[in-house]
Amino acid sequence: MNRQRIVVASNNAGKVREFNQLLEGSDIEIVPQSEFSVAEIEETGLTFVENALLKARNATQHTGLPAIADDSGLEVDALQGAPGIYSARYAGTKATDKENILKLLSSLRGVKDRQAAFMCVIAIAVPQGPALIYEGRCDGLITGEMRGGQGFGYDPVFCYPPLKKTFAEMTREEKNRVSHRGKAMVQLKDEFEKV
Ligand code: IMP
Repeated sequence: MNRQRIVVASNNAGKVREFNQLLEGSDIEIVPQSEFSVAEIEETGLTFVENALLKARNATQHTGLPAIADDSGLEVDALQGAPGIYSARYAGTKATDKENILKLLSSLRGVKDRQAAFMCVIAIAVPQGPALIYEGRCDGLITGEMRGGQGFGYDPVFCYPPLKKTFAEMTREEKNRVSHRGKAMVQLKDEFEKV
């Protein structure tokens, strides 16, 4: 089988792993941009779409291959949509997942409204031609404490009510079936012939 190589414009190991899992069994081969020494571009956009396009276009320009980028984050109702596009740097530019989670839990201490949504925009850029955009969303509730050891980022504090589990308590298949990234990816796979 002739596999189509696509560069993933991310150095986030958790994301690259999920892209690989989501594309398992397809004829797409994912290659991290680090293999081409593509440096991470600054995320100067003000929306998920702008940032996803910036990252995908940067990777395709440097490699000459189609590139896929995801910009994602957590929007919390009681925080007026924060941390949103700043999710990775909520507790500071070099913040760890744990530091971001602790800041989130302390911002929500005593707050009854725990409604939140994970958002994901996936952009595919090609050397010539327009980019394509796919969006996915997953609604849930922020827990009062961390639960589970799987996943990455805010997974231990994001509860998915239909399964009564945090994302970090789910198997990768369970998370991929319902997650923001999984939903955006289903659309991408359906339309892949366009690229
Ligand atoms: P960016 O898209 O690289 O700007 O970073 C997105 C940030 O949102 C990640 O670093 C995580 O903190 C968070 N995030 C995005 N998707 C997920 C997910 O599936 N689980 C947990 N956290 C996520």
